Amino acid sequence: MHRLIIVSNRLPFALDSAGEDLWTVTPAVGGLVSAVEPVLRERGGTWIGWPGTAGEIPNEPLAKATRDAGYNVVPVALSETERDEFYYGYSNEVIWPLFHDLQNFCNFDPAYWQAYKQVNERYADAIIRNARPGDFIWVHDYHLMYVAQALRERSTSENLSALTFFLHIPFPPYDIFSKLPQQRRLLRALLQFDLLGFQTRRDVRNFLQCVRRVMPDTKVVSRGETHVIRFEKRKIRVGHFPIGIDFDSFENEAKSEAVAQRSQKLRASFPDCQLILGSDRLDYSKGIPERLRAFRDALERYPELRGRVVLIQIVVPSRVEIPRYNEFKNRIDRLVGDINGRFSTSTWIPVQYHFRGLDREDLLAHFRACDIAFITPLKDGMNLVAKEYCACRIDQDGTLILSQFAGAAEQLKPDALLVNPYDVEQMADTIVKAFRMNPAERTARMKRMLRMVRKENVFWWVDSFLAAGSQLTRKVTRSRRN
Ligand code: F6P
Repeated sequence: MHRLIIVSNRLPFALDSAGEDLWTVTPAVGGLVSAVEPVLRERGGTWIGWPGTAGEIPNEPLAKATRDAGYNVVPVALSETERDEFYYGYSNEVIWPLFHDLQNFCNFDPAYWQAYKQVNERYADAIIRNARPGDFIWVHDYHLMYVAQALRERSTSENLSALTFFLHIPFPPYDIFSKLPQQRRLLRALLQFDLLGFQTRRDVRNFLQCVRRVMPDTKVVSRGETHVIRFEKRKIRVGHFPIGIDFDSFENEAKSEAVAQRSQKLRASFPDCQLILGSDRLDYSKGIPERLRAFRDALERYPELRGRVVLIQIVVPSRVEIPRYNEFKNRIDRLVGDINGRFSTSTWIPVQYHFRGLDREDLLAHFRACDIAFITPLKDGMNLVAKEYCACRIDQDGTLILSQFAGAAEQLKPDALLVNPYDVEQMADTIVKAFRMNPAERTARMKRMLRMVRKENVFWWVDSFLAAGSQLTRKVTRSRRN
């Protein structure tokens, strides 16, 4: 088995200065960390990434945060300017909105690209310092699309085995991607990897379309689900690998006495109500205002719901230093206030809103207690919350309302109630459909979703990606020997 080297912008925890020599360590949020962490914990290996603080990395808190990890942690430091221009800038003000089809939110500041390249080069140097021949190098996500190019420029890449990459977020269609000033440079950089993994068939299709249009000097050969791009005498494999969750850990913890008790308590606080759950990182791609408007519309048009449903909306703070994220929070606050102001009675408040992360036990209790999960991103790479909700439905009951633009819809579409997150009226109608659905239908749908989420879990995801990468590793090693 190859030694696994994971490279991502974030480490699984964030260090935060809480005053002179005082540091807090918090688990990082988001799909990448929640998927990759259990894999490294099980297999061991090395994780190269940024601990979330600008400037020098403090030794003692870092050592404390990594002591029990069970794998090796290599921190990459970012200066304040690099954090601003690489992380907040190119990654989160250019690539993030563009790849979620929200090009109007982009700030194409030319300085950002230079910072992006520079930080990607720093990551390449960290790989060179820490990797041994034969290691499986797996680079993750949109912050690090230039790493393979930086490695090849350092002409040390032939000492490394295959370079592989997985994109956790969507890849946009050509009409949107073509707005990117660095479109050719970015695709060229991506084509320096040997294996490119995407979440869904949709993303693979979009990526290949962009390659064909922007890089006419490539040749794409597709046979079924296998795609090979020929570029500069190299072959690059492209595939879709839908990410999963650590199913057993969710299911087992959801069965625990502590979660059962918290879940009962939650239910008892809202007698005679169906509970609807929204749980998201604070992000404009998650469709939270549209969802709240749909809930308001449902209460307006379907009086039978009043006093009979409660929407619990959890919003986990994220990227709050970016002004747009803060404005977005204010929009959510106002909408929640508007709905509660309009519809509350002395015994019922329609929206329960938490602007904070819940601890794991509490989150699982919410999954267990809520009758309906209402997950409606405008676009999402996968959306693991949808899968986590299913895994915690140990009673095999519960309804999932899911955006048709979440990657998870490709796997869950026969049984989730799919909605267009831009269509407020359709979402409102779907709330009523879920509210009225009979228990036999709910169970039949949930059973099938559970089967899928259990089977195509995070270890299945990692095994299929590593299997695709290992074929390359063998080929690369063989051709280098010849
Ligand atoms: O899953 C997408 C993702 O961008 C991850 O790469 C990232 O770790 C997560 O969302 C949370 O975002 P951030 O690292 O910016 O806090």
